[in-house]
Amino acid sequence: MREKCCRQIWFFKVLFFLCCVLQFLDYTVSSAVEEDNTGKVFVYGRAAVGTIDEDFICATLDWWPPEKCDYGTCSWDHASILNLDLNNIIFQNAIKAFAPLKIRIGGTLQDLVIYETPDQKQPCVPFTQNSSIIFGYTQGCLPMHRWGELNAFFSKTGAKIIFGLNALSGRSINPKGEAVGAWDSTNAESFIRYTAQSNYTVDGWELGNELCGGGVGTRVAANQYAIDTINLRNVVNRVYKNVSPMPLVIGPGGFFEDAWFSEYLKKAGNSLNATTHHIYDLGPGVDEHLIEKILNPSYLDQEANTFRSLKNVIKKSSTKAVSWVGESGGAYNSGRNLVSNAFVYSFWYLDQLGMASVYDTKTYCRQSLIGGNYGLLNTTNFTPNPDYYSALIWRKLMGRKALFTSFSGTKKIRSYAHCARQSKGITVLLMNLDNTTTVLAKVELNNTFSLRHTKHVKSYKRATSQLSWDSDGEVQREEYHLTAKDGNLHSQTMLLNGNALQVNSMGDIPPIEPIHINSTEPITIAPYSIVFVHMPSVVVPACA
Ligand SMILES: *[C@@H]1O[C@H](CO)[C@@H](O)[C@H](O)[C@H]1NC(C)=O
Ligand SMILES: *[C@@H]1O[C@H](CO)[C@@H](O)[C@H](O)[C@H]1NC(C)=O
Ligand SMILES: *[C@@H]1O[C@H](CO)[C@@H](O)[C@H](O)[C@H]1NC(C)=O
Ligand SMILES: *[C@@H]1O[C@H](CO)[C@@H](O)[C@H](O)[C@H]1NC(C)=O
Ligand SMILES: *[C@@H]1O[C@H](CO)[C@@H](O)[C@H](O)[C@H]1NC(C)=O
Ligand SMILES: *[C@@H]1O[C@H](CO)[C@@H](O)[C@H](O)[C@H]1NC(C)=O
Ligand SMILES: *[C@@H]1O[C@H](CO)[C@@H](O)[C@H](O)[C@H]1NC(C)=O
Repeated sequence: MREKCCRQIWFFKVLFFLCCVLQFLDYTVSSAVEEDNTGKVFVYGRAAVGTIDEDFICATLDWWPPEKCDYGTCSWDHASILNLDLNNIIFQNAIKAFAPLKIRIGGTLQDLVIYETPDQKQPCVPFTQNSSIIFGYTQGCLPMHRWGELNAFFSKTGAKIIFGLNALSGRSINPKGEAVGAWDSTNAESFIRYTAQSNYTVDGWELGNELCGGGVGTRVAANQYAIDTINLRNVVNRVYKNVSPMPLVIGPGGFFEDAWFSEYLKKAGNSLNATTHHIYDLGPGVDEHLIEKILNPSYLDQEANTFRSLKNVIKKSSTKAVSWVGESGGAYNSGRNLVSNAFVYSFWYLDQLGMASVYDTKTYCRQSLIGGNYGLLNTTNFTPNPDYYSALIWRKLMGRKALFTSFSGTKKIRSYAHCARQSKGITVLLMNLDNTTTVLAKVELNNTFSLRHTKHVKSYKRATSQLSWDSDGEVQREEYHLTAKDGNLHSQTMLLNGNALQVNSMGDIPPIEPIHINSTEPITIAPYSIVFVHMPSVVVPACA
């Protein structure tokens, strides 16, 4: 026993030595690459890997009252559905700029909301705090006059609404913390009927918030949730019998768990149009190391596991439902001030948009449009935070088809590409997570996929082809370089090609203008910068 152990130790010593040698070699090689500072973006252009909705960009509005605080900070102010200033001109312009922006109305308190419909007998009063009950609040109510104001606002700003319904209605919570019993759809049905009769357009009705899987606060079993979803489908079919297009039916609006989602999607079948999952992959907002996570490529990569698993579950279930990210705020419990509302968050946010697209996510709802520390808009004065502009530039440049993209050179570059929105070309998104190295990148088309089914493995050089436009001196491309003001990652001001993005005194959203670069030049990606490159003349089969 002992001898075996020592022999093992000896063996490991040799292994350790070999590792050191290899690591040294690896180190010399990679530092040589770094000194070189160049890299290649490979874009697979034969076919799209994922397809996103025309209105992929979505943001949420929540119910939290001003009393909502986390870790001693109260970051919601008047950002609730119930008290937002709908007359604010910046707010209106910010939504209009997306033409259209999808807005998902929901959040924790949605499962405590009653709707002031004619048949509703309970008084229509706001939420009040009570720490001894679920979610810490009494039930609140949506007055129909407020619903009317909201719909006038949505119609005026061109927002498309996804409304999250109270899915706890009619259930009771057992001693194990499970919500049991069937969903009582009575109040929801009269609210949906009232909405349809008032000619308010709702694009989707979503059932519940974070009640799936292990749940947050409480949970509902997958089998019951499927029954309730079919019930909602029947309600929608009844109410919108003569209306076209019929709103979508969406669920469950919670965290992905393989077994729960598998059962739910199998049983809810085609009653569902979209399945929504939530993402808070950065952990709690109180974490002082959020920035280190955001700037760590391996950390960012982890979320791909969820996207991949969900994609497989959908495939296996034979549902027609597509996948949406229904709510994603990065850091939970309202995010973190000067991180979630600062330049650095765009590395996380744009990486999420890119990754979600690759896994065929149709819509991505950011928590939040306004409210908490993760708002796209400043909670007190409605001015856009850096992520607002990141979303807007995405909206302007990234088309529906996501292309498989990889980067060789350094792991600190994140790379994504889509068919361009405004041309037959492509748009490449590159992010430099490194604080000191400027990277020079060339785009090459990777045609490896086309060789996948042939027996001959062609050489690397043959499999990739230099872009033909590269030698064409006439061709230019458009670049959008995003950096933090004063190089400060915590800055709430983002620079586009060196100029601050700011609303003017009229409350107008600034135009998003590129610089034009000769296509023979490599793409320069400065430290801690984000670059969108629109290449109108790079035409690949996937985008033709
Ligand atoms: C809070 O809720 C509990 C349980 O329903 C109730 O007994 C208590 O009176 C409530 N407290 C307040 C301040 O309303
Ligand atoms: C809704 O639209 C229909 C058809 O255009 C119209 O007859 C009805 O009066 C409208 N209802 C309201 C409340 O505006
Ligand atoms: C939503 O699902 C229903 C029921 O399967 C289907 O009839 C409808 O066409 C779907 N809507 C969209 C936009 O796919
Ligand atoms: C909103 O903007 C003001 C003015 O720039 C700033 O002082 C404040 O910190 C911002 N609030 C939040 C929550 O970011
Ligand atoms: C860059 O980041 C590294 C690793 O986080 C750190 O050690 C170094 O001090 C940083 N350099 C600058 C110039 O900020
Ligand atoms: C080209 O794309 C294929 C397909 O995924 C990938 O496996 C390969 O690594 C890519 N080649 C390069 C050089 O990036
Ligand atoms: C682009 O660069 C090439 C090579 O340096 C040069 O010959 C050509 O004139 C440039 N084209 C434009 C439009 O500046």
